[in-house]
Order: sequence, then structure tokens, then C-alpha cells
Amino acid sequence: MKTKIICLASIAFLAFPVFAYEGVKNDAVKQRMQLMKVIKDTMAKIGAMARGLDPFTEESAANAKQTLLLAAADIEVKFKSNETDPLSEGSPAIWENWEDFVEKADDFAFMVEGLETNSANTLAAGLGNIGQSCGSCHKAYRIKK
Ligand code: HEC
Repeated sequence: MKTKIICLASIAFLAFPVFAYEGVKNDAVKQRMQLMKVIKDTMAKIGAMARGLDPFTEESAANAKQTLLLAAADIEVKFKSNETDPLSEGSPAIWENWEDFVEKADDFAFMVEGLETNSANTLAAGLGNIGQSCGSCHKAYRIKK
């Protein structure tokens, strides 16, 4: 019985990321979409703590901030090669304006660094700046499909 539960849990764990990006054929594109999903999910976690929907702990707030910092540093790495896929929302402008794109990733990292994780209120206060840096990059470089 125990084995069965472990088995099912690992199947669910393995299957989910594959399923979510099933239609994406280009692996580099899939990886950068997954990176954005990590960013989005982590922002949602911070937002839920900020609004009192999830219990606030300094530890989970600090972990979430760390995840965002690592993800921010990974944007340049994951977007570097000019790859595309029919399901990609990445604009060709990314590679035409690579320096500017990297600068926007740096701005995002800078805003995340400024996030104070000692209370739900400080989280709430920092979310707007971070959200704006997502928006400023998406506006220039993401084509919503
Ligand atoms: C430096 C630029 C940049 C920053 C900063 C950035 N994004 Fe993105 N994001 C992109 C690009 C480009 C795409 C499209 C990638 C593709 O489809 O190839 C994207 C796609 C996404 C997607 C869709 C992923 C999918 O499954 O197709 C989500 C969700 C997302 N971003 C959330 C965020 C959030 C939330 C933030 C801020 C907390 C953020 N992004 C910050 C450039 C950025």
C-alpha cells in the first residue's frame, strides 16, 4: 500500500511539468517558459502571504525571495540563444535588443533585492515594484497569444 502511494506521487510529480508544456517542441523555449512559470508561481506565493490568504512566515518569505533572485539571474542564461517555437510568446525583438533585454532582467533582480521579507506588510509594499518590472519587460518583449 505504502509503495503504491509513493509510486503515484512520483508519477504525478514527473508528469506535471511535461504535461504543462506538452505542445512546446523546442527544448530551449520550454525551459524559458518553465522559468517564467516558476517566477509567476513564486510571485503568487508572496502575494498570498502579503494578503493574508496564506500564513506569513519569515522563512517562506525569504525562500520565495531567494527563488526569485535565482530565477532573475537565470533569465539571461535561458533566453540567450535565439530560439523559437509556434507556442512561444517571445518577440524577435529580444535578440535585436539583447542589451536592453538583459537590462530589464537586471531591473527585475534589483526590485526583488529590494523586497523586505520581515512581514506581510513589507511584502505587500514591495510587490508593486516587482510587478512593474515584469510588465515593462513583457510590454517590450512578450507577444501575448
Ligand atoms: C527581462 C524580461 C522579463 C521579465 C523581467 C519577466 N518576464 Fe515573464 N516573460 C518574458 C518573455 C520574453 C516571455 C515569453 C517567453 C516565451 O514564450 O518564449 C515571458 C513569459 C511569461 C509567462 C508565460 C510563460 C508560459 O507558460 O508561456 C509568465 C506567466 C510570465 N512571463 C510571468 C512573469 C512574471 C510574473 C514576472 C515578474 C515577477 C516576469 N514574467 C518577468 C520576459 C520577462
